[in-house]
Amino acid sequence: MTNINPASFIGGSTGEWKVTRMQTITGEPLLPVEYIHIKLEHISPKNALWVLRGTNNHTRYSERTEVDAMKARQEGLGRSHATHAALIPIRKNAAWWAMAQDERRKIFEEESQHIAMSMEYLPAIARRLYHSRDLGEPFDFLTWFEFAPGHEGAFNALVAKLRASREWEFVDREIDIRLIKNES
Ligand code: HEM
Repeated sequence: MTNINPASFIGGSTGEWKVTRMQTITGEPLLPVEYIHIKLEHISPKNALWVLRGTNNHTRYSERTEVDAMKARQEGLGRSHATHAALIPIRKNAAWWAMAQDERRKIFEEESQHIAMSMEYLPAIARRLYHSRDLGEPFDFLTWFEFAPGHEGAFNALVAKLRASREWEFVDREIDIRLIKNES
């Protein structure tokens, strides 16, 4: 089977993004690394301390009006001024995965306003969501964000609001990795 839009986040001693902070929010930590390199394929380099893999594929919970509203506001990755980034790998617990799709959507949006609340942070924050669960990976999601240094405070405020939401009661592993672009 071909994976759609694959990515590997390679933690090690070289890479295009320098790690400035690694914070374990919930669950088992990840080994500390100095750099993260991103490859848009699934690979297992020998000299890496760890590799997290995901695919950026179809949406699960977004409705048409939400998709259209986001498309109208969002900007892509790789903007030259967006020199700061966050990689936040997340796993949800068995209770989350035992629910039906409509029950999860209700918690995700009607109760937690994940999309409505986060939308206000576009276009300052550029994002990409990778799914990992079906690949048998240690995390269910790899979330990636890029922003200008001046928007770090806003990003932190959004993360705090999401962590206080009902949706996050189901998160049982989360690592918050902050990075700056390695220009050298
Ligand atoms: C920057 C603004 C953000 C926007 C506009 C946004 C929007 C979205 C949308 C639309 C989805 C659902 C995709 C689908 O339909 O399957 C989603 C899923 C998700 N987002 Fe966000 N998000 C933002 C920020 C964040 C942040 C800061 C985090 C982590 C701290 C995060 C973590 C997640 C996770 C883990 C999922 C997957 C949920 C699941 O499928 O159970 N998001 N986001």
